[in-house]
Amino acid sequence: MTDATGDGGQVQGAAIEDYLAELRTFPPPEEFARSALVSDRTMYEQAEADPEEFWAAQARALTWFEPWDQVLDWQLPFARWFIGGRLNVAFNCLDRHVEAGIGDKVAFHFEGEPGDRRTITYAQLLDEVGRCANALRSLGIERGDRVAIYMPMIPELPVAMLACARIGAAHSVVFGGFSADALRDRIEDASARLLITADGGWRRGHPVELKANADHALSSGARSIENVLVVRRLGDAAGNLVMQEGRDHWWHELVSGQDPHSPAEAMDAEDLLFLLYTSGTTARPKGIMHTTGGYLTQVAFTHRTVFDLKPETDVYWCAADIGWVTGHSYIVYGPLANGATSVLYEGTPDFPGRDRWWSIIERYGVTTLYTAPTAIRTFMKWGTEYPAAHDLSSLRMLGSVGEPINPEAWIWYWQQIGGGRCPVVDTWWQTETGAIMISPLPGVTTLKPGSATFPLPGIGAEVVDDAGRKLERGGGYLTLTRPWPAMLRGIYGDPERYRQTYWSRFEGRYFAGDGAKVDDDGYLWLLGRVDDVMNVSGHRVSTTEVESALVDHPSVAEAAVVGANDATTGQVIIAFVTLKLGLEVGHEHAEVLRAHVVEKIGAIARPRVVIFTDDLPKTRSGKIMRRLLRDVAEGRDLGDTTTLADPAVVAELRRRAATGSGEE
Ligand code: WTA
Repeated sequence: MTDATGDGGQVQGAAIEDYLAELRTFPPPEEFARSALVSDRTMYEQAEADPEEFWAAQARALTWFEPWDQVLDWQLPFARWFIGGRLNVAFNCLDRHVEAGIGDKVAFHFEGEPGDRRTITYAQLLDEVGRCANALRSLGIERGDRVAIYMPMIPELPVAMLACARIGAAHSVVFGGFSADALRDRIEDASARLLITADGGWRRGHPVELKANADHALSSGARSIENVLVVRRLGDAAGNLVMQEGRDHWWHELVSGQDPHSPAEAMDAEDLLFLLYTSGTTARPKGIMHTTGGYLTQVAFTHRTVFDLKPETDVYWCAADIGWVTGHSYIVYGPLANGATSVLYEGTPDFPGRDRWWSIIERYGVTTLYTAPTAIRTFMKWGTEYPAAHDLSSLRMLGSVGEPINPEAWIWYWQQIGGGRCPVVDTWWQTETGAIMISPLPGVTTLKPGSATFPLPGIGAEVVDDAGRKLERGGGYLTLTRPWPAMLRGIYGDPERYRQTYWSRFEGRYFAGDGAKVDDDGYLWLLGRVDDVMNVSGHRVSTTEVESALVDHPSVAEAAVVGANDATTGQVIIAFVTLKLGLEVGHEHAEVLRAHVVEKIGAIARPRVVIFTDDLPKTRSGKIMRRLLRDVAEGRDLGDTTTLADPAVVAELRRRAATGSGEE
């Protein structure tokens, strides 16, 4: 294991027992199977017989300006797909649909949190993307440049991404919940020349002032930024917004006046489409690189087949944020490439009431809902009266992503939201994989609640033991056995780190960082991360990154961070902190440190509990024992602590954890 914890990266045992509790299986409903896009195993067999030809067939569903001369060049661990092929992602998402006569079809039903609504057709989206593309060109952005995007969930966000794709600039979308420091670091890593942002967005009834954050980011570094393009979303609610002369430009002034016609660059299949930063096991987030042809091929294919897309009649809603990979692939690129009609919602599920989502489903007749287990568990906690108050009979498909879904939540989702008639697809994938990898096909696969079931056609996934031997049964590490079109092409600026992180643990295999088990029927069950990455509400947060944010505070000598299991959010962040000598431990100091982490990273990284301790448990070689700390945090039996330098430390820690020192 590439693991700094000294705990051997063990799969947590508790999860396995949960999964055994639910033994029912769910074959595809007959009527669903009858009209499903994929209703038998032929596609799996064809893909197995010739994976490259299978992916080439999927790629042919896109419009190419130039055909490729070779499907795949695989120099482990570097893959190139559709070599020599030329295409444009925005052209595939917009122009070809308008040319095919569906310009009047709705691309997005947008609903802002305050209740404002906009309907955007494919023709309108194409025009707005064209204008934005010309605005980017007018600011000197060229093919090959990087553009940072820091925006709320409003239609201008997909417009900005597609405008970049249209002119061949790579975007780097930074989730709007990240702090100014996090934004600055990402801009610097990518040397982005332009920042596209908004005065802010709405969250739970309050304005979130993104432009103010962006200004902080730019005043503390990020010197590569030459211009800032600002969407007016909040208007008067934006507080005292300052537009810097010469650098900052209003979207409604610069974009609206442009010509909607803008040529789509013929990009090489392997040109960079976007960077997306994700947390790993070190303090520095990695810029995951995705390219053009393979990425679009696999996101379009998976969006179509996993959600059994009927583009004429479906109203599809992925309730993720575009700031994460799920939103990139399954709000923007997959659905638009397939000419789907989607819902785009800006805000939280409980504003103004806890039935907001269900009222959206009813209003637009949503047929397909894709969300995360953490949301489902929150809805369970709130109670069934909220969904029950709305007509959800339009739904025909449900999806889950981001973390293991416990069978109880699966069954609740299936019953309370799906009315017992909608297949639930549990989709496993990562920022790095770009697209769904392991998932049922709803017209084919018999579902087991809690299992992501099988690799999709064309995908090779196996569970291996510590020595990298394939396991036919039982628990181990999830690996991918062959290249796939949407795979990351590397870590921006660091090819060696790419090899080291994903391809060094098991020879010839991609190591995902997840534990998994294979049951007697060959079904795959994901068991959570086995490295130092936490999963909080479906978001990846690095323990090391939070630790370095804590240590960055002048009062902190040392910090150890662990993710403890939580019934709603999957994991919560627990921080064990040793202060510098002579400093007083005040209760309010926990809040100071929490706020410091929010400032350094963002609210998603805020520790739930800060436990002050004079000492951290370490092995004799000086490594912090995170597994032991996790057990302390979860109140579990500590097992063998014989390698511990000073066992008294643990007893004291337990006492402090039990008295809840620094609980939020
Ligand atoms: C976890 C999100 C279990 C996993 C698309 C993975 C899952 C990490 C599932 C990637 C699932 C995602 N079942 N675990 N269906 N989907 N994960 O990069 O630990 O934000 O490694 O991509 O989420 O998170 P990321």
